[in-house]
Parts: sequence; C-alpha cells; structure tokens
Amino acid sequence: MIKLISSTTSYLYKRAFKPVMFKVLPPDNAHTNILIAGSIWQKIPFANKLLAGVWAYKNPTLEQTIDGIRYPNPVGLSAGFDKNIRLLPTLKSVGFGFMTGGSVTYDECDGNPRPWFYRLPKSKSLVVNVGLANEGVKRIRERVQRYPSWKANQFPLTVSVAKTNSQGTCVDAEAIADYVGSLRHLKKQKQISSFEINISCPNTFGGEPFTTPKRLDALLSAIDALQLQKPVVIKMPIDLHWKEFSALLDVIVDHDIRGVTIGNLRKNRSEAKLTDTLPNEVPGNMSGLPTQKLSDDLIRQTYKKYGDRLTIIGVGGIFNAEDAYRKICLGASLVAIVTSMIFEGPQIVGQMNSDLVKLLERDGFASISDAIGSQV
Ligand SMILES: Cc1cc2nc3c(=O)[nH]c(=O)nc-3n(C[C@H](O)[C@H](O)[C@H](O)COP(=O)(O)O)c2cc1C
Repeated sequence: MIKLISSTTSYLYKRAFKPVMFKVLPPDNAHTNILIAGSIWQKIPFANKLLAGVWAYKNPTLEQTIDGIRYPNPVGLSAGFDKNIRLLPTLKSVGFGFMTGGSVTYDECDGNPRPWFYRLPKSKSLVVNVGLANEGVKRIRERVQRYPSWKANQFPLTVSVAKTNSQGTCVDAEAIADYVGSLRHLKKQKQISSFEINISCPNTFGGEPFTTPKRLDALLSAIDALQLQKPVVIKMPIDLHWKEFSALLDVIVDHDIRGVTIGNLRKNRSEAKLTDTLPNEVPGNMSGLPTQKLSDDLIRQTYKKYGDRLTIIGVGGIFNAEDAYRKICLGASLVAIVTSMIFEGPQIVGQMNSDLVKLLERDGFASISDAIGSQV
C-alpha cells in the first residue's frame, strides 16, 4: 500500500509540483515557498495526522537506541532545510526518524547576499551559498520551547549550532564564545535530544577556523566545560584527505563528543564530475551527488579506525534506500538527507524506510543495528 501511495505522490511531485517550482520559480523562491506552505499546512487541523497516515513508514526492524536516544527509523533530515525550526511537527509526520534543525547561531543573521541557491539538476546537486541565515538562538529557543516535550520524545531533535556569520567571530576567542553562548541558551531545553557542532560551514566570515587540530581542541575544551549532558556530534568537512580528516578525529575522541556527521557541502569543484555547467561566478558549495563518494569513503575509514567510539551520521548524496544502506553498511548508525527531499519530494522518506527493510531482509539482518559496519 505504501508503495502505491508513495509512487502516486512521487509521480505528482515530479510531474506537477516540481516542474512548477523548478521551472517557474528561481530556487530561492521555491525554497521559501516550501517553508511557507509547510507552516500553513501544519496549522490545518489533522493535516499532519493525514500526512503521517499516508507517508510515514513504521517497522520495528528500523528502530534503534543510540547514545541513549530512541530513533524510530534511521533516516533523518540534515541541517539547513529548517534553519529556524519552524516545521518540526510536519517533518515528524512526513516520517523522518529525527531532524537536525539549524544551523542556529548566537546572533540573528541575514546570511549572504541573494541568490543563495543554484540548481544543477542533471548532476543531482544544489550549489548553496546561504551563509548561515537564521533568526538567532533566542527566538529559535522560544519556538522550540513551545513544542510539547512528550511529542519531542517520539521524534529526536538535534540542533545544529554554528558561529555567527560576522566580522566579530573571525577572532577565535569570539567565535568560541559565540558557540558557547548558543549552547548555554539551549542546554536545558527538554525538546532537544542532542547537539551538532557545525565547524564546516563554508562561505562565511572567517571561513572554517576549527578544522585544524589545535583550534578544534580549543573549541571542544570550551564545549566540554559546559557539561551539556546530551550527546554532541561534530559536523565534519567533506573535502579533506583522510590524513587531515583523521587528525581532527584524533582530537575529537579526546573530548566529550559522541560522534561525527560526515559530512557537509563539497567545496572542491575541480574534481567534481558534473553533468551541468557550473559558472565560476556562481558562489557556493555543492550538495547531493557530488558529495556521495567523498562521504562514503570517509565513513568507511572512520568506522574502520574508531569503531563504536564514534557514532557516525552518514550524510551526502542519499537518493534512495540503496544509498542509505551502503552508508550504514560502511559504518553509519544513522543517515540524513536534504537534497533528495527537495528533488524527489518528501514521500521519499517513507519509501526509503520501506525499501531499507527489504534490503535488511535480503541480507538476513534482523535489525538495522546488525547491518552497521557490516561491510568494513
Ligand atoms: C539548502 C541547504 C542548506 C544547508 N544549510 C546547512 C546548514 O545550515 N548547516 C549545515 O551544517 N549544513 C547545511 N547544509 C548541508 C547539508 O546538511 C548536508 O550536509 C549536505 O547538503 C549533503 O547532504 P545532501 O546531499 O543530502 O543534501 C545545507 C544543505 C542544503 C542543500
């Protein structure tokens, strides 16, 4: 039944909704409209119940408890789609196993000058140049506080925290104070299950200072001191060679950090095999397919070296259950998506979960946890 509903809605999304959004509207307007539509939708009584009934897929095989948090399924929303955490109820109803809200920064930020997005449809990628636009931690915390915590228990919320995109945070001490200030504001919120520290947001003031071991060590020492009492993961850059990447992991395992999200957008254009033309003057970094192999390789090497010491959230170019399953078999405990949901529609989440169960059955695994790292 889910297959039928999913393929019908997938067809409608691809043949009706997406062509209008993609052809008529520039990508920035399409993204804004999706967020507005979602906000209106969740105000309609029973709308989300309907959504959950039609799209969400449940199966005990997909349930896991990781670092003390119960996940109904392993497919989450990655950071950047719901920056101001406005759509939590709808994203739960769509069938995600968890969501990452943000990235949130201490101060409100308008982000980089528009346009923020450039589509590479044949390459299954978006070029992203948002520059951490968000309403700032105080407003976002107030919104999160209004969400009933009993509901939050059924749908883990990770909040991604980044440093404010401003001249001030170009100094390391200021940048660290910015991260710490946001985490202090969010620390006691019952609705938040875990934190993701975004050290890898390109195209912002000061770049990515905490992607070198010494400076990362300073940031993580300040975060340790907060004693957050919730799992913390680090959102990793995806363009680094293994030697540089593992030097960062060596620092991470010395701190009170549970895991890593692998990884963020791809900056390096020179080796990306793109089917579309990407003009040099278009600023930003690539999501989707160009991140897929980089992410798979780093997940495999991270799992091989660190095993269970680091929980891995696999992100980058997941378009179907096979892509998600491959990352899980390479060592990811959870996976998360953004681009495939924008390109294929939100019904992709239930479809992915339903197909994941078939892949587990095919390979003789009794649960998703049994598949983690099985090919390393
Ligand atoms: C529109 C958009 C906005 C994003 N914003 C953020 C962000 O604010 N913080 C962050 O850590 N990653 C951000 N990302 C990166 C994604 O979380 C993800 O790491 C990357 O897109 C690869 O996953 P995908 O191929 O499923 O899109 C953004 C990605 C997209 C497409």
